[in-house]
Amino acid sequence: MKIGIVGATGEVGRMMVKVLDESRIKVDELRLFASRRSVGKEVIFRNISYFVEELTEEVMKEKFDYFLFSAGSEVSKKYAPIAAEYGNTVIDNSSAFRMYENIPLVIPEINSYVLKDYRGIIANPNCSTIQMLLALNGIKNKYTLKKIFVSTYQSVSGAGNKGIKELQNQENGNSEVKNFSKKIKNNIIPIIGNLLETGYTDEEMKMVNETRKIFDDYSIEVFPTTVRVPVYYCHSETVTFEVAGDYELKDIRNCIEDTEDVRYDDGIVTPDDVAGSDITVVSRLREISGFVSFWVVADNIRVGAATNAVRILKKHYEINGDNL
Ligand code: A2P
Repeated sequence: MKIGIVGATGEVGRMMVKVLDESRIKVDELRLFASRRSVGKEVIFRNISYFVEELTEEVMKEKFDYFLFSAGSEVSKKYAPIAAEYGNTVIDNSSAFRMYENIPLVIPEINSYVLKDYRGIIANPNCSTIQMLLALNGIKNKYTLKKIFVSTYQSVSGAGNKGIKELQNQENGNSEVKNFSKKIKNNIIPIIGNLLETGYTDEEMKMVNETRKIFDDYSIEVFPTTVRVPVYYCHSETVTFEVAGDYELKDIRNCIEDTEDVRYDDGIVTPDDVAGSDITVVSRLREISGFVSFWVVADNIRVGAATNAVRILKKHYEINGDNL
């Protein structure tokens, strides 16, 4: 098939190329796009050199089977609708379209049914939402989730190349603070995104709103705190939840163990253990007074972005391939 990657020089875009490379997806033609300053940069895919092209409106009008976008909301807002208008399917990693009623927001293991007969823009959820909902998916299929309390420990790669560079620079002795609101080296920043009037941030509200849309349950209450930590790859989360009615902790564990692309681990699981994996790892399951807690770690660039996008592509093709 013919695939275009927009933002191919970024953290997520480069990982999209890698995840595609590792997959068994038959790629007959690959085109890589970024801003003008990246034109001519070389990217290796399946042992062949590809060169980055400038993103233009004209390219969006060409026939592609899939575009994978990860170049930020502004780029998505400008270019993705043109691609869709010309009959292309766009899997968009930005937050630009996630909450549009008529745009599917997809974690394939959870709600791939919304992809049937659909063409156009498909939104990839927020990285922290993806790993939380994957961890809760088996539980949600058996129980009614009422409340979810979550604190995230988000790595600097979640802010793209520039987030990684900022921590590297600070570790190399340069104290400049540019992309995070405070110094990140040897520190923890208890706020990600823009503060809203309610005191929550837009990053936190993504976890509230996206959870309801993906689980298709608008009564679930989510109470998030999103936090940046000086870790390069993998987001970690403490999740505490309440279900309606009785439950057995053993059964909750079984639900987690039976969930696709999720693994339960009895040990101590850290970002260092999980980086580079496509599996979401849950550990430290426990309960007190009717509330159940666990710790969940996943590679934010893979599971939380590139791998989820490629899983959407595969699933969409599986369901609709004959009619593309
Ligand atoms: P470039 O490298 O040419 O700036 P990250 O999230 O890691 O910062 O990456 C962002 C990605 O989005 C990069 O590939 C970047 O390309 C791309 N990008 C940013 N702005 C534009 C734009 N105006 N047009 C096309 N690509 C863009």
